[in-house]
Amino acid sequence: MSGEKPTNLPSEAELAGMSRDELVKLGTNLDGVELVHYEERWPVKGTRAEKRAERLVALWFLISALSGLAFLVAFLWWPWKYETPRTDAHFLYSLYTPVIGLTLGLAVVALGVGALLYTKKFIPEELAVQQRHDGGSAEIDKATVVAELADAGTRSTIARRSLIKRTAGLGAGVFGLGVLVLPLGSLVRDPWKNSDSKDSLWHTGWKSENGEKVYLRNYTGDPHEVVLVRPEDVEAGGYLTVFPFRESERDDEHALVAATKRVDNPVLLLRFRPGQQIVKRAGQEDFNYGDLYAYSKICTHLGCPASLYEQQTGLLLCPCHQSQFDVFHYGKPRFGPATRALPQLPITVDEDGYLIARSDFIEAVGPAFWERKS
Ligand code: FES
Repeated sequence: MSGEKPTNLPSEAELAGMSRDELVKLGTNLDGVELVHYEERWPVKGTRAEKRAERLVALWFLISALSGLAFLVAFLWWPWKYETPRTDAHFLYSLYTPVIGLTLGLAVVALGVGALLYTKKFIPEELAVQQRHDGGSAEIDKATVVAELADAGTRSTIARRSLIKRTAGLGAGVFGLGVLVLPLGSLVRDPWKNSDSKDSLWHTGWKSENGEKVYLRNYTGDPHEVVLVRPEDVEAGGYLTVFPFRESERDDEHALVAATKRVDNPVLLLRFRPGQQIVKRAGQEDFNYGDLYAYSKICTHLGCPASLYEQQTGLLLCPCHQSQFDVFHYGKPRFGPATRALPQLPITVDEDGYLIARSDFIEAVGPAFWERKS
């Protein structure tokens, strides 16, 4: 092949009658490409070394397929629900993220290594020089490029390497399935199965079941310690993060810990200074108890915990994208991407003087979702 451009270009009829080799040669000439070095990797076909190389490539594709399969199985069936520490179930639960990360990572890496090894071991070694030219491609160039690509496929010898083709197909297929399952997997659990359940998106752990009292619990970091809150425990201008607690859960370590882990449970209990000007939301005028107000800590933008509170201005900042909520003005957003106010938890005090929730939030907590209208 030479870098010289042919002076006599073939007619359309001649082009249609040309073999693939002739088209490849014509194409490289038209592109001003000169092949200065070309060498087959395996000039003698079927040697033991060639078969060894083939098995090595196939092995990587097989590893990719098996890891992809392991990822699919782990993603769909590994026990992912929170379990109390110091139990066998917790050990398995804690492995969920590492296992899906490792298996997916290995599937991608092994697929890449297999493709890389194939290129190094089977694609002919060649060195070509091409002159640069400007502008779009002519019809003739497009036709010859197709021939060149087909020719490259033939020279790669992939057609006669069925072991590699099968394992590469398997690896890529399983990996593709994994990519498909990722978004679909999250749709398998139907959040609307029982929309009245405290596990549905409309409710939180503050929902009372069978009329049982739900106390505001000050979490000290020790899952066994239950510290209930009285109004006098929060000083003027101060605040506490509280979680729901029921007497029926007092000796249930799993339930005690789970209540502090559930994403929509954290509530910020604030005590405003006497005389502070407060704007209440229509219909929620009695949600507070004196100077005490309880707001969901879950940002209505994308669900980060909003915990940076500035008591002078009454602004609660979400650190993720800097939304600011005005707790003096029913948790209304003042700045940033959040558009909805923080939901307020209706609270009161029971006959023993402990703060309790009068009910669950009257609206869904956290970010918007498809079925949400407000
Ligand atoms: S999650 Fe709070 S501002 Fe985005």
